Amino acid sequence: MSNRTFTMIKPDAMKNGHAGVIIDRFIKEGYKIVALKVTQLSADKAGEFYAVHKERPFYGELVAFMSSGPIVAAILEKENAVAAFRELIGATDPAKAAEGTIRKLYATSLGENAVHGSDSDENAKIEGDFFFSGLERVH
Ligand code: CMP
Repeated sequence: MSNRTFTMIKPDAMKNGHAGVIIDRFIKEGYKIVALKVTQLSADKAGEFYAVHKERPFYGELVAFMSSGPIVAAILEKENAVAAFRELIGATDPAKAAEGTIRKLYATSLGENAVHGSDSDENAKIEGDFFFSGLERVH
């Protein structure tokens, strides 16, 4: 069990002015920020990041949305980070997310759901490495 996860604050939450309160929530929930930046994915890079969903019907929509505006990318550290963070953000579909979760509070829809959280330790490492070099993170 690793103690790090990777997250993005997605373009909808950025556009709606929720980035600050979401980062504040990460800190208040006990996550240490070990890497953080604002960036924007090209369609090519978004396609690469979500390659695992290539055959899904929503892939084109997902790539277009994720490259539509700025995002915040971050690596967060806490005990049992991947599972704990997925609980904090709530279900993928905000209509199904528990009260008080980040998606329940700030997500727009199933496709535009405010935040990403890695689904495994292996993917947390791959996704963190996709965005951050060694110099851009705390060791
Ligand atoms: P996330 O789990 O961060 O990464 C994959 C994303 O695909 C997911 O968030 C949703 O935003 C999106 N997604 C999943 N299912 C659908 C769907 N049925 N329609 C549109 N987008 C979806």
